[in-house]
Amino acid sequence: VFGDSDEVKSVSVTEGDSVSLNTDVKVQRDDQILWTFGPKETRIAEIIKRDQINFIFVSNDGRFRDKLQMDNQTGSLTIRNIRSEHTGLYKLQIISNKETSNKRFNVSVYACLPAPVITRNSSICSSSSSVSRCSLLCSVVNVSAVTLSWYKGNSLLSSISVSDLSISLSLPLEVEYQENNIYSCVINNPITNQTTHLDITQLCHTCPGMSVTLVIVVVLLKL
Ligand SMILES: *[C@@H]1O[C@H](CO)[C@@H](O)[C@H](O)[C@H]1NC(C)=O
Ligand SMILES: *[C@@H]1O[C@H](CO)[C@@H](O)[C@H](O)[C@H]1NC(C)=O
Repeated sequence: VFGDSDEVKSVSVTEGDSVSLNTDVKVQRDDQILWTFGPKETRIAEIIKRDQINFIFVSNDGRFRDKLQMDNQTGSLTIRNIRSEHTGLYKLQIISNKETSNKRFNVSVYACLPAPVITRNSSICSSSSSVSRCSLLCSVVNVSAVTLSWYKGNSLLSSISVSDLSISLSLPLEVEYQENNIYSCVINNPITNQTTHLDITQLCHTCPGMSVTLVIVVVLLKL
């Protein structure tokens, strides 16, 4: 009736979403259902049978406060508004008269992705060698387990990845002013992505450092 006990189902979800861990069974009158979480196999939800009556327990402690909901027909467990602290292994045990069966869910929670920010790299902008070129930076702050990439149309130009650490990332790109190809900077993790398109005419039109330089020259001339 139930899946084999070595099965581990991978579940990937974005922070803030709700996820349901489905038992794929219909709870029979005599079945007991037990959900545990993490290496300590903490009991988080249970359907207990006492005197022919099924009682439902869901943990309201610690990280699971106000998060859990169990379907009394199927024993499926829903985690609402999921956070990274809910990452881990969820074990399901179904105890019926005839047999005990197990199933495991490996839940990975990924952070929401910030939209990448494209800025002009103004230190390079004012150098004479880059008159017809525009140097750009695509940046994101406080990210982990993501890849940041520049695309020209659908072609990947460059990318940089970060693993578990929460850090800031920047990826440079040089473009010609007159190029009207569609450039975009994309951040992605294994389940989702965010794209920012480059507006060349807006960002590369003038050097941001230029007007400041002119003002300084004028001041020096007056002295
Ligand atoms: C759960 O998933 C993580 C990340 O994908 C992996 O490193 C880990 O080995 C998995 N655990 C099990 C028990 O499958
Ligand atoms: C971003 O996600 C969408 C849909 O989820 C997918 O179609 C697209 O290929 C992804 N883009 C990149 C660059 O990964």
